[in-house]
Amino acid sequence: MYNSKIIGLGKYVPENIVTNADLEKKIDTSDAWIQERTGVKERRHVVKGDGNTTATMAYKASKIALERAQIKPEELDLILMATLSPDYYFPGSGVLVQTLLGIAECPAMDIRMQCSGFVYAVATADQFIKTGMYKNVLVIGAEQQSGGLDMTTRGRNISVIFGDGAGAVVMTRAENNSVGVLSSHLHSDGEHAKELSLIGPNTNRWVHEIMAENDPEDISYYPYMNGQFVFKHAITRFAEVIQEGLDATGWKKEEIGILIPHQANLRIAQMVQRKFQLSDAQVFNNIERYGNTTAASIPIALTEAWEEGKIVSGTKVVLAAFGSGFTWGAIMIQW
Ligand code: ACO
Repeated sequence: MYNSKIIGLGKYVPENIVTNADLEKKIDTSDAWIQERTGVKERRHVVKGDGNTTATMAYKASKIALERAQIKPEELDLILMATLSPDYYFPGSGVLVQTLLGIAECPAMDIRMQCSGFVYAVATADQFIKTGMYKNVLVIGAEQQSGGLDMTTRGRNISVIFGDGAGAVVMTRAENNSVGVLSSHLHSDGEHAKELSLIGPNTNRWVHEIMAENDPEDISYYPYMNGQFVFKHAITRFAEVIQEGLDATGWKKEEIGILIPHQANLRIAQMVQRKFQLSDAQVFNNIERYGNTTAASIPIALTEAWEEGKIVSGTKVVLAAFGSGFTWGAIMIQW
């Protein structure tokens, strides 16, 4: 059995910055409300015609990660693409990234685990590397979700939170089993699936049926979130799964070099920080600049933390996520 480790990281966000003041012009909201409840100051949204899609942003982030890893695209054995906003219903966006990278053939798999997608993808890559089946795996989290948000006052509890972007890492076999991914912890519970969901169209109600009904009240094609319900579950599950990781590795909370929580909401991250009594230096947040980029949030934050020198050889890194499903998970990495 081999350990896996991350050897290259990259991120890409669209150039178009949407501030809270910009949103105030379209939605009955305020900079003060958004900052106080979510911590978001601005986010990036793609603009029609700027060439950014989930796959193209993923490609740009992946190119940087591959260059830093000094791995050529053709050396990849597997692509794992975490997204809830694939370019098409089918096929998934993993194959589109594969083609953009100029790889003639390699398995490319989409992972549909929403905000926990990147954590699930890293755990999956780790398993393939552990067994020796694959050596070099590209793991991506990417989202272009702004186009599907209800940018009117009706959708304000959701639309102010989310942003677009992509992050990617290259994982490979570690030189020994004392470094790299030490443990992964994955969970799902479908009981509350609808509390954070986008259910229309679906296999009981296809696009043509929705169009035929032509019901102006029907907004099932916009995401729905029971905000306070999600908030309460997120705090509990984040804490549980981080503790699970600490128990599995034997790390003390003071030893955590950096916790990269999924950037759901700054208040959630702060409550988790308080629960474990972590210092500001131990927790990385960038939600104020990008909003919640769902599956892309952890790889974007991980890349920035690494670029800022907060992750070096020997750092104990914790990735933790919670999201729609509900799904949640953590990855413990000895860098
Ligand atoms: N601007 C101004 N007012 C707003 C806005 C807005 N953007 N959105 C909602 N409001 C209003 C509501 O209409 C409501 O008004 P009312 O009291 O007159 O009815 C009031 O603010 C309070 O609404 P709540 O929904 O109860 O607001 P809450 O304090 O719960 O904050 C929020 C909403 C920010 C969504 C919060 O519930 C939350 O953070 N939930 C966690 C969910 C989360 O982080 N999701 C991220 C995606 S999921 C994930 O990544 C895991």
